[in-house]
Amino acid sequence: MKFSSFWQLATFGIKTILFHKKDPILGTVIVTDKCNLSCKHCSVNNITAVIYPYEQIKREMQTLFDMGVRILFFCGGETFMWQDGAKTIRDLVIEAKQMGFLIVNVVTNGTHPIDLPEADLILLSLDGDREAHNQIRGDTYDTIMHNIENATASNICFYMAINQINKHAIESVCRKAHELKNVRAVSFNFHTPYPDTKQLKLSKAEKQSCCDTITRMMNEGMPVFNLKSAFPYLISGTFPTPCHQCVVIENGKISTCGRCISVPGLCSECGYFFVAEYTLLFKGKIKIILEMLRTYLKYV
Ligand SMILES: C[S@@+](CC[C@H](N)C(=O)[O-])C[C@H]1O[C@@H](n2cnc3c(N)ncnc32)[C@H](O)[C@@H]1O
Ligand code: SF4
Ligand code: SF4
Repeated sequence: MKFSSFWQLATFGIKTILFHKKDPILGTVIVTDKCNLSCKHCSVNNITAVIYPYEQIKREMQTLFDMGVRILFFCGGETFMWQDGAKTIRDLVIEAKQMGFLIVNVVTNGTHPIDLPEADLILLSLDGDREAHNQIRGDTYDTIMHNIENATASNICFYMAINQINKHAIESVCRKAHELKNVRAVSFNFHTPYPDTKQLKLSKAEKQSCCDTITRMMNEGMPVFNLKSAFPYLISGTFPTPCHQCVVIENGKISTCGRCISVPGLCSECGYFFVAEYTLLFKGKIKIILEMLRTYLKYV
């Protein structure tokens, strides 16, 4: 990360903590909900299957920028299926950088060829070893590994949603992240139980066991892009929700934190690590602040 970007983000953090501000800094644009997969844990794919036009997405990016957002995510659906004429997700990333966003990340299922060197991070969903991943995501593991091998930059970060099917496969994903030259780290979430996927949620004891494994991996030097000091809050579900510093925009509709905010009662069962990490950060928890500084400077 450039020093000027770091300084802008640090200034935002200090102001937010001191003055209890609720302005957003992290924004997500949903480019489409169309997807080539139908993962067992996912409730947001192919509801409309509309690919939003370039001009609309550009306006939405500008809206977020004008609100103060400086860390931008593109998400879906499958982001690599987005296109408008000759424009692809890569053009959106370049446009976002030109607009002035400091960090631009893309979330993908990794089943398409990866040529996105301008992104700061490509969060690529890997949900376990071959067996667990394929059970959740269909027969895609080998294609994904091939695409990672042939990616044009080493800006990939695995993104694993831990649930009942893959809770035993954390170590395998950490070791893969460590082994592959184009992969920088792995970032975890716990399954967030939407009404149609409640059966996949983890108990507190299971979350504790997962966090023990992740901690062991971190101690062994595996590249984990999460904050250990947030684990107790994630296990007990005692972090504040929603995250007021995060917004998402989908087809013109802006939601605080995630589009899941419209699902009644879901926030009390939230499994997204970023929510715990950001809300605790902006509450001014010293251990979180120090660990976030170390972690972000290492991986972004
Ligand atoms: C909705 S997908 C969209 C981007 C892309 N299609 C992908 O799979 O990475 C974004 C991320 O959300 C995760 N996800 C989906 N449903 C979830 C849930 N109920 N709880 C936690 N993570 C979930 C996916 O595993 C994926 O890593
Ligand atoms: S690839 Fe992503 S959007 Fe598609 S079904 Fe899986 S988690 Fe959902
Ligand atoms: S806190 Fe609520 S809105 Fe935010 S990600 Fe979690 S479930 Fe979604």
